[in-house]
Amino acid sequence: MQVSRMQGSLCDLETGCWPPAGSSSGDWRISLGEWAPELAVLGTEAGGHEDRRAKRALDALAQLARGKLYRPPYMVLLTDMSAAWLEDGLAERIYLGLCERLGRLDLARGPFYDVYDRKISGRDHVRYSDTNKSHGFHTDGTASSNWPELVGLLCVRQASSGGMTRLVNIYNIHRRLLDDSPEVLEVLRRDLPRQTRSIPEGAADRSAVDVYPVLTGRAPDMTLGCRYMRRWVDAGFVMTGQMPSAVVVTALDAFDQCLESDPAMLLFRMRPGELVFLNNRVVLHDREAYQDAEGAPRLMRRAWLYGA
Ligand SMILES: [Fe+2]
Repeated sequence: MQVSRMQGSLCDLETGCWPPAGSSSGDWRISLGEWAPELAVLGTEAGGHEDRRAKRALDALAQLARGKLYRPPYMVLLTDMSAAWLEDGLAERIYLGLCERLGRLDLARGPFYDVYDRKISGRDHVRYSDTNKSHGFHTDGTASSNWPELVGLLCVRQASSGGMTRLVNIYNIHRRLLDDSPEVLEVLRRDLPRQTRSIPEGAADRSAVDVYPVLTGRAPDMTLGCRYMRRWVDAGFVMTGQMPSAVVVTALDAFDQCLESDPAMLLFRMRPGELVFLNNRVVLHDREAYQDAEGAPRLMRRAWLYGA
C-alpha cells in the first residue's frame, strides 16, 4: 500500500476520533504475512486437517478485524497477500470466509458486487460506482431499510492513475462542527429526503424517496451514526418537488467542506490483493477519479454486511 497521507495510531477509545495525520503506528492494519502458511491451503483439502487449520486461522483473523471495526479505528486494512493468491482464487476464498465471519452478506448482487468503470458515464440511471469518477464522501446504502453495517472491498486491479481511497471518521467531523459550527449539526439531525434508487434524470417519483437524518446518536455515548451522500439528498428534494431552504444548503455545503478538509483524513492507494473493511455507520469513504490502463480496468469486489 502506498500511503501519501495517514496517521498511524487510530485508537482513541475515549472519543472515537482519529488523531491528525502524522503519527506513526499502524493499528488499523493487519498483515496477512504471518497467517500465510495456514491461509495458503484454505479450501484446497475440503474437510481435511489442513483446511481446518486454515479455517481456525480465519476465525482468529476475523476476531482481530472485528475488534477494529466496532470501536476505534472502525476500519481495518489487510495487507501483504501474495499476488499468486489473486490468480488462483484463494484471495476471494479468504475474503468470503472473512465476510461470513463478520456478518450476513448482502446476496442481492453477490456475494460481491464488481466495482469498475462500465463506460456508461453520462447516461441516465448511472451510479458513480459504475464510472471512473469520484463519488464525494458518502456511506453506502440509501434506502432507509438498507443500511449495511460493514463495507468490504477487495482490490483485484488498481488503475494506472488516480483511484486513491479516501476515508474520514464521523467522530472527527462531529467534534469539529461542534466547536466551529454547531448549527450545522442541528440541520444534520433533521429528517432530509433521499432518493433511494436510480431513476431517469428529471423524473419525479415519490416512491423513490425516503426521509431520515444524516446524523444520529451521540458522541459521548459512542453511538454516532452517519448516512450520507450529497447527490441523493439533492435528488431527494427534486423528487419531492421541494426546494431545500438556504439554511439546509448552507449546512450541507459546510458539512461537505468539513469532510473534504478533515486533517485526519486517510488517503491511500490499495494494491491488488489488499482488503479493506469499514464500519459504514462511522467511516465515510470515497475514491478519487481514475484512469484505467489499456485493457485492464481497475476492479474492486465490494461486499455489504449486516447484523454482525
Ligand atoms: Fe461507496
